[in-house]
Amino acid sequence: MTVKTAMWPADDPAAVARAAEVLRRGGLVAFPTETVYGLGADALDAAAVGRIFAAKGRPADNPLIVHVAAPEQARALARSVPPAAEQLMSLWPGPLTLVLPRAEVVPDATTAGQDTVAVRIPGHPAALALLRACGRPLAAPSANRSGRPSPTTAQHVLADLDGVVDVILDGGACAVGLESTVVDATRPVPMVLRVGGLPVEALRTVVGAIDMLSGQDPQAMSRSPGLRHRHYAPRARVVLVAPGEAAAMGGPAVAVMSQQPRPPGFVGRWQVMPSALEGYAQALFAALRELDAPEVETIVVETVPEVGLGRAIADRLRRAAER
Ligand code: TXA
Ligand code: MG
Repeated sequence: MTVKTAMWPADDPAAVARAAEVLRRGGLVAFPTETVYGLGADALDAAAVGRIFAAKGRPADNPLIVHVAAPEQARALARSVPPAAEQLMSLWPGPLTLVLPRAEVVPDATTAGQDTVAVRIPGHPAALALLRACGRPLAAPSANRSGRPSPTTAQHVLADLDGVVDVILDGGACAVGLESTVVDATRPVPMVLRVGGLPVEALRTVVGAIDMLSGQDPQAMSRSPGLRHRHYAPRARVVLVAPGEAAAMGGPAVAVMSQQPRPPGFVGRWQVMPSALEGYAQALFAALRELDAPEVETIVVETVPEVGLGRAIADRLRRAAER
């Protein structure tokens, strides 16, 4: 079944009010957040949430993040709120998702049957306005087709979801550009399940100890179901190399992402990425989509240092390179 997808300006209060009405009737609305665009539906309406999975082609075992406008709304979705979670909530609104013990109001469809629920308050005025106008918690994964790079503009959403999403609120390019950091706050020591837009260094300023999910951990997959699935993959092959190595890898079917200027005589496309990690993160997914042109067979990416936001950038690049 296809719908006529409407594109409305996210800074128009009348458009936000109409989009909230679409959500209250069980529809799908894509909206900007500070991280990436989300594909929203009423998180407490199992049928509406089912539509998200169908629209994205998302595996049913991958739970959704529930977006709320205020901490009380988050607490109402949880059976209990551990002390570390309360401390981490001081970083909201922001690119941080907390996994909490789930309250019974949250349907299985939203949590993929998990006994936990992931929640966050997004730091984007349009997202907050939509949440307030609608008055419901909104389940929202990234608004891309499953496996594609996350959308950081309304045009990316349209390219992936035209005809399946009722409304796209266009708020321009997302400021952070990487998905939220996901922290399991149900454990005695909170654990980062997915590195993201809020660097681990920032988490350490509010909680003393924090664990990182290790890929070697046999239970890793059950804790973070999203890790099982392929991610961020352009159609072209993605190859990671050390900084400085791409210059020698030119060719007519090659595209390069590098923080260095294009070397003289280089054959192929050369995308200069911002030298500051914040700028790099913001530009990353758009660059992956842009370079994934029909004539490009290989996207060569020079890696970035794994500090601060660089950890999340490196994580997304590794996943894009997985086959
Ligand atoms: O920044 C973001 O997080 C964006 C915006 C729209 O908020 N959303 C996003 O959603 O990236 P999505 O569905 O693409 O990624 C959600 C991640 C997945 O890795 C999923 O497995 C994990 O969060 N997750 C959700 N609920 C969970 C739970 N109960 N326990 C563990 N991991 C969970
Ligand atoms: Mg996603």
